[in-house]
Amino acid sequence: MRVIIDGRVQDILAVVMKGQQVQMIDQRLLPFTFRISKFRTWQATVQAIKDLVTRGAGSVGVAGAFAVAQAAQQIDASTIEEWNAQLHSAAQTIAQARPTAVTLSSAVNYCLAAAESGTALAEKQHQVRVAAKAILERDMKASQAISEAGQSLLKSQYRILTHCNTGALAIQDHGTALGVIRQAHATGKEPLVYVSETRPWLQGSRLTTWELQQEGIPHHLIVDSACGYLHQQGLVDAVIVGADRIAANGDVANKIGTYEKAVLAHEHGIPFYVAAPTDAFDLACPNGHDIAIEERSAHEVRSFTGTLPNGRTGTVQIAPDTTSVLNPVFDVTPAKYVSAFITERGVLSQISLTSIKQLVHSGNGL
Ligand code: MRU
Repeated sequence: MRVIIDGRVQDILAVVMKGQQVQMIDQRLLPFTFRISKFRTWQATVQAIKDLVTRGAGSVGVAGAFAVAQAAQQIDASTIEEWNAQLHSAAQTIAQARPTAVTLSSAVNYCLAAAESGTALAEKQHQVRVAAKAILERDMKASQAISEAGQSLLKSQYRILTHCNTGALAIQDHGTALGVIRQAHATGKEPLVYVSETRPWLQGSRLTTWELQQEGIPHHLIVDSACGYLHQQGLVDAVIVGADRIAANGDVANKIGTYEKAVLAHEHGIPFYVAAPTDAFDLACPNGHDIAIEERSAHEVRSFTGTLPNGRTGTVQIAPDTTSVLNPVFDVTPAKYVSAFITERGVLSQISLTSIKQLVHSGNGL
């Protein structure tokens, strides 16, 4: 992604692997501080995924794949069988780091399958690393294609409501929903973006605004609860969001708050688009009820992190210590509210079990 740091333009990916090190743009610190954090062991990479150093379905999948590649190298075993058993055990830990995005478990499984090829340990380790890199490359191609596919749905000067962060931080190197918006801007369409702040972790206000600023795309930050008002005022032409897992029937798990945006769009006759790679469809999951919804710590809801008056980044508490908190971080939008899926294989607007199966099976593996 194009990043302007101290006035200098740099091209940096959200997650990369250099040697045995996984390097991530540290999304916990943006937009206040730009830092690349480095993780030397697979266990440290897993912890980074849990801590949201990197986040977004695509970036989590790539980080998970790199963690498998680290594990393949770092496991200390005296036989191939022992190495294989330990690799499977590490892979299970990695896949469980965040349960909702299917991209994490599918990336981990893809790397595990690569470990089956070859006979010598060095060959297997090499194959796992090649597989992990292939996932990053696949995402880069898919997100570019999604960005282009979405253009047929957008008119010039559309006012687009989006939620969470679905940009180059979330899937390399264009984004899903934000990729479509970025492409619209790049091709002269003049979109205006409403960014909902995305409580509690503020992916919208911290990350999406930052990405939009980097690109010079006009936007307004709004509080999550302002969406209904915007619709009533006739200010929204389309809603575009991403997805973490899409069930076989088209139900969509995405960042908490997506469901109410879909219902509002439906009520006001505004199209609600879901931009996601076909990798986000999980045919093993019949409908949204089967999707595991991650719950995160109460601390995220009881506090805010931002810039303090002294210019430092800090966390302030906004609720009593003892307040009981519920913090589900995803919700499920029923397929009936989705106007179309925007994928790297084109736009799917006739949504059914059959059309989704056809779409998913129309690819050739990775
Ligand atoms: O908890 P997060 O920040 O990882 O959630 C991210 C989202 O919900 C995005 O909308 C989703 O991953 C799609 S963008 C690739």
